[in-house]
Amino acid sequence: MSFSSSSPVVSLRDVAIYQDVNTVLSNVNFDIDKGEFVYLVGRTGSGKSSLLKTLYSDLPLLTGTAAIADFRLNKLPRKQIPYLRRKIGIIFQDFQLLFDRTVAENLAFVLKATGWKDKSKRKQRISEVLMRVGLDAAANKLPHQLSGGEQQRIVVARALLNEPVILLADEPTGNLDPIVADGIMKLFMEINNSGTAVLMATHNYDIINRYPQRVLKCESGKVLDSKVESFALTTGY
Ligand SMILES: Nc1ncnc2c1ncn2[C@@H]1O[C@H](COP(=O)(O)OP(=O)(O)O)[C@@H](O)[C@H]1O
Ligand SMILES: [Mg+2]
Repeated sequence: MSFSSSSPVVSLRDVAIYQDVNTVLSNVNFDIDKGEFVYLVGRTGSGKSSLLKTLYSDLPLLTGTAAIADFRLNKLPRKQIPYLRRKIGIIFQDFQLLFDRTVAENLAFVLKATGWKDKSKRKQRISEVLMRVGLDAAANKLPHQLSGGEQQRIVVARALLNEPVILLADEPTGNLDPIVADGIMKLFMEINNSGTAVLMATHNYDIINRYPQRVLKCESGKVLDSKVESFALTTGY
């Protein structure tokens, strides 16, 4: 509907994030607009993954209000979680492909699980996303026949299957050498340029310097926002 087309893709108000009894982050307030690219930085243990998990509803939202892709995260019924995850693409550091299935079978598995009943439509969509990541020739290969960078491209293709409004990526280049990581980064930029918002947790300050964008930084239990205040980017891992 037209009123939602201008609303942010992500919106958090006075959110707190917990792991067990510990408060990881509090007073979190930010919006991410449609088509925006945002980095999420902060040293190990500062709360980047916990924040992303809250956004894809792997951690429940207990304090504050938050919405992503038109889903309210407060008291989100468990049954709604698969629908939420169709609207957001999730990419982890380790590839999490099914290693006993071909690339096409990996992608078909997700399509079947998300309601694509028509085999020829599945085939068409698989070929579209593989084209998008530059690996249309890899459909019938097994993951172990591909390089690490190629496997990560397949993971990106998988995340794109249901045309998400935002990609959430948790250190997607963490296991890749710099040249391969740069290629993945260019792919993220292309996807972003075609209108998909991206929130990417990273430690890689070379990448941030090469492709400057808005930065959210987890520090001392808060989230700093380069849109609101300036802060040092380089204080440690
Ligand atoms: N599954 C978990 N159970 C309990 N504590 C956790 C769990 N995952 C992370 N934590 C703790 O939450 C804090 C934030 O971790 P995390 O969100 O993984 O940070 P980052 O991704 O920035 O490294 C850390 O203190 C970490 O030890
Ligand atoms: Mg993490």
